[in-house]
Amino acid sequence: SRIVVLASGTGTLLQALIDATADPGYPAEIVAVGSDRPGCGALDRADAAGIPGFAVPLGAHPDRAAWDVALTEAVVAHRPELVVSAGFMRILGPAFLAGVPCPMINTHPALLPAFPGAHPVRDALAHGVKVSGATVHLVDSGVDTGPILAQEAVPVLPGDTEAELHERIKITERRLLVGTVAALVRDGRDRTRGDLP
Ligand code: GRF
Repeated sequence: SRIVVLASGTGTLLQALIDATADPGYPAEIVAVGSDRPGCGALDRADAAGIPGFAVPLGAHPDRAAWDVALTEAVVAHRPELVVSAGFMRILGPAFLAGVPCPMINTHPALLPAFPGAHPVRDALAHGVKVSGATVHLVDSGVDTGPILAQEAVPVLPGDTEAELHERIKITERRLLVGTVAALVRDGRDRTRGDLP
């Protein structure tokens, strides 16, 4: 299956998918990587892996709606059968959700519905939780609210900084994402509806 990955940051989650898809037995290929941030680590990793990358910066468009349409066109151009948001830090608007004809999943470094939003690791630490984790979910019109596909708990250790806890969660997040993508694609192929060829 054709996957388009959207990312905004260092791209270690993307890298985990790149490494997984290098195995010919993995049932999906990354056909493009998109970002809102030109020059971000994720686009560098795509280049290094020979995967086409594209950037749709917010500032290059008169308003959010125009950006949403431009991003949708850039993604649809690659004919994705699954879109994966792997550390994409923008909220996707209605044009995107209506314009992209395939399922989309997102990964979040917290046990949703706890700690949605842009700073879940910081929020979890501030709340004093003893356990957090990673969630992979289908994207719907809300923020971090779609049906949950996979979760795994990650312990919070005394004295954890945000960076330390986030890195520990990302180790789990990468494995969860790789496994969930493979399951989705295989399940999609098995389903009689065949909506994930
Ligand atoms: C991940 O924890 C993702 O869930 C969050 O940002 C992080 C991205 O990490 N939204 P990376 O850029 O893939 O290293």
